[in-house]
Amino acid sequence: MSKSTSTFICDSCGNTLSKWYGQCPNCQAWNSIKEIKIPSTQISSTTTASSLKPIPADKVKASQIVRISTDINEVNRVLGGGIVPGSLTLLAGPPGIGKSTLATQIALNLSQNQPILYLAGEENPPQIKIRLHRLTQKIPSSFLFSTDTNVSSLLNLETLSPKPALIIVDSIQTIHSPNLPSQPGSPAQIKQVTHILMQIAKTTLIPIIIIGHITKEGNIAGPKLLEHMVDTVIHFEGDQNHHYRILRAVKNRFGTTNEVGLFTMTSAGLKEIKNPLLLFSSQLKTPIPGAATSVIMEGERPILVEIQALVNPTTLNIPRRVAQGIPVNRLIMLSAIINRRLGLPIGNYDVFVNVTGGLNIHEPAADLAVALAIVSAYKQKPLPAKLALFGEVGLLGEVRPVPFSQRRDKEAKRLGLAQTLAVKPILLKTIVKTLFQ
Ligand code: TYD
Ligand code: MG
Repeated sequence: MSKSTSTFICDSCGNTLSKWYGQCPNCQAWNSIKEIKIPSTQISSTTTASSLKPIPADKVKASQIVRISTDINEVNRVLGGGIVPGSLTLLAGPPGIGKSTLATQIALNLSQNQPILYLAGEENPPQIKIRLHRLTQKIPSSFLFSTDTNVSSLLNLETLSPKPALIIVDSIQTIHSPNLPSQPGSPAQIKQVTHILMQIAKTTLIPIIIIGHITKEGNIAGPKLLEHMVDTVIHFEGDQNHHYRILRAVKNRFGTTNEVGLFTMTSAGLKEIKNPLLLFSSQLKTPIPGAATSVIMEGERPILVEIQALVNPTTLNIPRRVAQGIPVNRLIMLSAIINRRLGLPIGNYDVFVNVTGGLNIHEPAADLAVALAIVSAYKQKPLPAKLALFGEVGLLGEVRPVPFSQRRDKEAKRLGLAQTLAVKPILLKTIVKTLFQ
């Protein structure tokens, strides 16, 4: 009996099946199962038991891996030291965040010595040229781009000599495989194209960076589907209304996932942030009631942030609790603790809290700074200057130490903040008494 040369993929959720169904057993979508004809070259590569040649593990030399530096420290750090030859990296993020800009900057740095290939499915050559002009004075002739969106064209890379040092695919949603009837960007296409890119990277040892769009909710099927197929997944995050950007490793076969890279978007591309304090504080010289500084952790990196609070008599039956950058439920809880445990009647006041710079804080370590910013705003008294606060506030009105206290403390001192609270367990009431006497 001849072997099947087809596989079936759901165009809605990306589920792979061995036969056709009218309704996808995974996502229940109707008429979404598409047949994929696997090219004969791929079939012939299906290894038979007799041709299998296993390699003894002790003969494999791991130290031979030489990482390629991107010349951008923040990118190298997130990748675990640089790009690994033959690796497949997914650079995912919402549209307009700066993915193409970052990929172009990496490509420009690498193209100084060797050719790099930029597959542009989204933009035409003049548009790419405009971006290149913003990023560099002199465009190297080894920066090659192609607007051919057929992934099979990459199979004859040997026509390119010398071999490219890096391939960038911008974006996975626009590249297609002619073997499939579905539209570019559909889950079936994304799976097939990534599979081919993976084969190219592993056989030629040319690293490939795939750009993928993802919505704020992260619910576009494409990049999610890709995550388990690639070696490394890095997310590019930030706020469209602010200039800072965070590059975060979400999966890394060649390094840790705790690293983050910080950038600002400028008129001449992305610049690395050396001193985050300048970006995330109001930089006012005189202390103002309602401002408190905290140290939060982004991965393994401490970042100083300023929390601002405004407390105003309410005109409503239920006072407002408005939070930017911290979860609103956290603000409601901290307001109740202040009311009950400190005896401050903020139940009659609207409370607004904002984290400067547009950062989103997900850890309770900022509780103490939020609570004291509110108390300071209510009392109309500023907190002492050069004071960094970090600690989780509990329902009993106690302040508990948080992980990485020493690292936070060190970073605060490095950036010129003389005093930090609370590295030891302490009552919020005691802190308030000492600070506002
Ligand atoms: P882009 O890299 O095209 O985003 P993505 O590929 O993630 O969709 O760029 C996003 C924005 O950045 C775009 O609105 C223009 C802006 N930008 C700058 O501010 N400075 C620059 O030097 C460049 C190249 C872009
Ligand atoms: Mg883009």
